[in-house]
Amino acid sequence: MLDTRIARRTALMGAGAVAAWLASPARALMQAVGQVQSPAFVDELISRMTLEEKAGQLSLMASAWGGGVALSLNPASAGANFQQQVEEARQGRLTGVFNGNGATMARVMQTAAVKESRMKIPLIFAADIIHGHRTIFPVPLAEVASFEPELARRTAAAAAYEAAGAGIDWTFSPMVDVARDARWGRGVEGGGEDVLLGRLFAAARVQGFQGGDLKSVDHLLACIKHFAAYGAAESGLDYNTVDMSQERLREIYLPPYKAGFDAGALSAMASFNEINGVPSTGNGWLMNDLLRGEWGFQGFVVSDYTGDEEMIAHGFAKDGRDAARLAFLAGVDMSMQSGLYREHLPDLVRSGAVPQAKLDQSVRRVLALKAMLGLFDDPFRRIDVKRESARSMLPQTRLLAREAGRKSIVMLKNDGDLLPLPRSGKKIALIGPFASGPHDLVGPWVVYGDDAKAVDLAAGIRAALASKDSLIVAPGSGVEEPLAGGIAQAVAAARAADVVVLAIGEGANMSGEAQSRTEIVVPEPQQRLAEAVAAVGKPVVVVLKHGRALALEGAVANAQAILATWFLGTETGNAIADILFGAASPSGRLPVSFPRSSGQEPFYYAHKSTGRPNPPGPLEPYKAHFRGIPNSALYPFGHGLTYGKIDYAAFTQSAPSIPMSGEIEFTARITNRGARAAEEVVQLYVHDRVASLTRPVRELKAFRKLALAPGQPEVVRFTIRPAALSFVGGENKLVVEPGTFDVWIAPSAESPGVSGSFDLLA
Ligand code: BGC
Repeated sequence: MLDTRIARRTALMGAGAVAAWLASPARALMQAVGQVQSPAFVDELISRMTLEEKAGQLSLMASAWGGGVALSLNPASAGANFQQQVEEARQGRLTGVFNGNGATMARVMQTAAVKESRMKIPLIFAADIIHGHRTIFPVPLAEVASFEPELARRTAAAAAYEAAGAGIDWTFSPMVDVARDARWGRGVEGGGEDVLLGRLFAAARVQGFQGGDLKSVDHLLACIKHFAAYGAAESGLDYNTVDMSQERLREIYLPPYKAGFDAGALSAMASFNEINGVPSTGNGWLMNDLLRGEWGFQGFVVSDYTGDEEMIAHGFAKDGRDAARLAFLAGVDMSMQSGLYREHLPDLVRSGAVPQAKLDQSVRRVLALKAMLGLFDDPFRRIDVKRESARSMLPQTRLLAREAGRKSIVMLKNDGDLLPLPRSGKKIALIGPFASGPHDLVGPWVVYGDDAKAVDLAAGIRAALASKDSLIVAPGSGVEEPLAGGIAQAVAAARAADVVVLAIGEGANMSGEAQSRTEIVVPEPQQRLAEAVAAVGKPVVVVLKHGRALALEGAVANAQAILATWFLGTETGNAIADILFGAASPSGRLPVSFPRSSGQEPFYYAHKSTGRPNPPGPLEPYKAHFRGIPNSALYPFGHGLTYGKIDYAAFTQSAPSIPMSGEIEFTARITNRGARAAEEVVQLYVHDRVASLTRPVRELKAFRKLALAPGQPEVVRFTIRPAALSFVGGENKLVVEPGTFDVWIAPSAESPGVSGSFDLLA
């Protein structure tokens, strides 16, 4: 095992650690972060500001520096030039900029703001630090496959350390939108389909980014996005309508946001979508009543890009002025990119359409956060060119990226123990558009990372092989286009080799914003390549690159071994080689269900039963399934194999029934009967048989990650209290109802594992 820090008998951070976390001093610290103190000088500043300066403090723009990285990441915008933007800082028309480039840019702008503007209020510098700054970690969805929130905390902390060193104060992250339709392209940025994982990773990422003190030059202000239910877009079409019951919203979609705020996040981004007819950006119930009222959020809310202006296209606002008024009154404190607030807020206040006190309150929130970030003490505290390069891509950060990469890989299949491959004695044909080259490595949503500084698969494999001559590389195909002569060359390579590693899947631009797909399959030219290579008859290991669950077909699905490797970032090739050659046993588990066919989407394990479920086995007429395929996954949520052989046995429970005030313990004996060390993610699922509102067929309630030596058994214990069995009942309140519950301790959401049931008494 590469990770010697994992003691052999140690149960790693899992849902069982939640209780410990709730009681921990670290949480108390984070909660202290979650409280906003507005220093007295903030009110004194506000008393001297003009309406225009106030509106300026609520206006954030994409950085225009050097052509503007920001502008290339988003739809075409005003195309400001840098000198013009510096002038805006001088005039107090800007609160800050985002996705600009580094400390040099920040110094020029901050100097204009604090030395040359009338109020001398520092700017805030924001960026999409989604999965790394210069060192790029696995995409967020991949990292969830580790089932190790602590890993996400560490990578977020490392990303914050690099980014804060480069003049950045605020990240537009984490994205915590639950996503249950793999056609949606932005699932790649989030926590997957499950509520428990979504909550744990949201909290862990906030802790990593923010640390315990926002003034620290090692940390960033986190932003929970996209509030709310952005991941529930109808048919997975990005930006599309959301229409859902309060119960579903509160039970499935809201908890990860809440977990992020409870962990101390002090900014939030309103989502692009509408919910039940009201765009989030103009949704007063969402931001004023729920977020601030019910949840007590004290930070500020920013629009997502031109979300305020987009309410015109939604058919909710009649023009820019109306959009600014609606967004502001609904609780969006800061407008990103549209410029509508600085254009209209002063006059909206003068005309009485927006109360002056409300404007002051939003400015107070923003200035209080700037104070908490230490910007009034020293506006240049994070702006230091030397520190920027001194912190960039350090060896220990790359090592962390490699560890995170390894832990994100899920082995879907390994027939005949084809993997791990030997380091010598076999000729390997590495085939596919993702075999080599500086592309598609860092993945989607990267502002500052660089494919050219990342390790491709060929380099990773070469470094692991005893002899460099045993590797033949052939691209075989483009990502979405065939390559002239590619298949013939790939087939020749396969013939000359003992084993094929087929690196295929989605390009980085096929997931992320506005990248919804109707068919979530391997693109056709690559599928053809896979069929031709499989026909050669050599054993094939498929190494998938992807930002979502895929519906695998034909030769890809039938390959002897399949690794789901997502986008792993800077250390892609090394991390995959660690798994391919057995330096580490695969330990990732699917955070999203892989369907049998695209048409099953939205597809997720915690679905309802329906009145006509088709039991496992043959398809039955007039039962819930699509023509010709079972209503189950190709690879279910939670699935993932190891190089060990893991056996589940000896289920026990501490009692047949418990009272509402009680608790119940379940145990199972997990044994590694294989010859290699392995890590197993042991999952506990529950099903409430009868309730006043129907319940999902299974829900993940806890998990543990175990390190098991060959031959080693370990008894895993889970304690469940009735509160964990609650759901959102009538009147939008959490209820716990008595009744019978099924319990599984299992290696995936569809595995029978070992099981029992108990009664919760009234
Ligand atoms: C995205 C956000 C992102 C923002 C700024 C928007 O298009 O939806 O997630 O933070 O751009 O780059």
